[in-house]
Amino acid sequence: MPGANSVTSNQETLHKDLEKVVRKYARTTFLRPIADHTREAFAEAEEFVQKFYEAAEKGDPGTESGMTNEKKKGAPATECGMTAPVAVILDSGCGTGESTIHIARRFPNIPVIGIDKSYARLNKAGNPSQTAGEDVPSNAFWIRAELLDFWRLALEYVNAGKWTIPYHAVYYPNPWPKQSEATRRFHMHPIFPTLLALGQTIELRTNWEIYAREFAEATRIVFEENPRIATKEVYGSPTLRFEDDDKGDSRLLRLRSAQAPTGMTIKCESFDPESPETAFERKYKEARQKLWRVTVSHF
Ligand SMILES: C[S@@+](CC[C@H](N)C(=O)[O-])C[C@H]1O[C@@H](n2cnc3c(N)ncnc32)[C@H](O)[C@@H]1O
Repeated sequence: MPGANSVTSNQETLHKDLEKVVRKYARTTFLRPIADHTREAFAEAEEFVQKFYEAAEKGDPGTESGMTNEKKKGAPATECGMTAPVAVILDSGCGTGESTIHIARRFPNIPVIGIDKSYARLNKAGNPSQTAGEDVPSNAFWIRAELLDFWRLALEYVNAGKWTIPYHAVYYPNPWPKQSEATRRFHMHPIFPTLLALGQTIELRTNWEIYAREFAEATRIVFEENPRIATKEVYGSPTLRFEDDDKGDSRLLRLRSAQAPTGMTIKCESFDPESPETAFERKYKEARQKLWRVTVSHF
């Protein structure tokens, strides 16, 4: 499997242009037209989500019976009769889809969409070797799509109050370790503010420490540039207060609004999963590589 070796890069610390590039993209909107095939894939995902919740309302086996949107979200329907947004989990760049199964088991009442552009990898999703002989969870679904487009379509749904994304997995994205290719890393790409605005908790995993540290720092910069992402535009443009707790391999940054009980945390740390949840994670663990994760949570 390509990528099982440790990352080699001509970069020894955070990219010299990280701050400049991230600040620039935090102030702009990524306008590339959305590909038709991803619109179609998104419509399929949307249909899966809808059917999953319809089945749950009817109490079909495999879903939580009789559950309404209000119960799932803990939020009341609006007075004008609009329903509350439904919860959807994304597993972006899911590869062979193993992580989608793990996440679907962790959140059995929420549909989990595994997304990847590789047909060959997705073809292995749900393979019996991944499920240890058990059925594929009924809330797991895979689609082939371009993430940069899918995320923008998903954000339209979030902003329209149709979806809420309590957890977004971004496990082992391509690191693009050459300095000259750095703007292909998600956090140095114009899509990054969209990615941050999408989920309530985003978990990035990587085997490259620099990628994790850059991702965490890029997140801090985007929120500094555009605190409305942190506060969902509800509270205006509050001043953010930073609290830094730096301990060895773990760094926790709290960004708190000065005007409202809201903000976000960015945690960057090394971790050692007991049992690997993805094909790449297994290879890295077998090769005894140190793994890193960044958890970004809105509160
Ligand atoms: C290094 S692999 C990791 C796969 C899986 N998360 C794992 O840990 O085994 C990165 C995956 O991201 C997918 N990918 C990268 N860029 C993508 C994009 N722009 N849209 C959709 N998938 C993408 C690739 O096809 C590949 O399967």
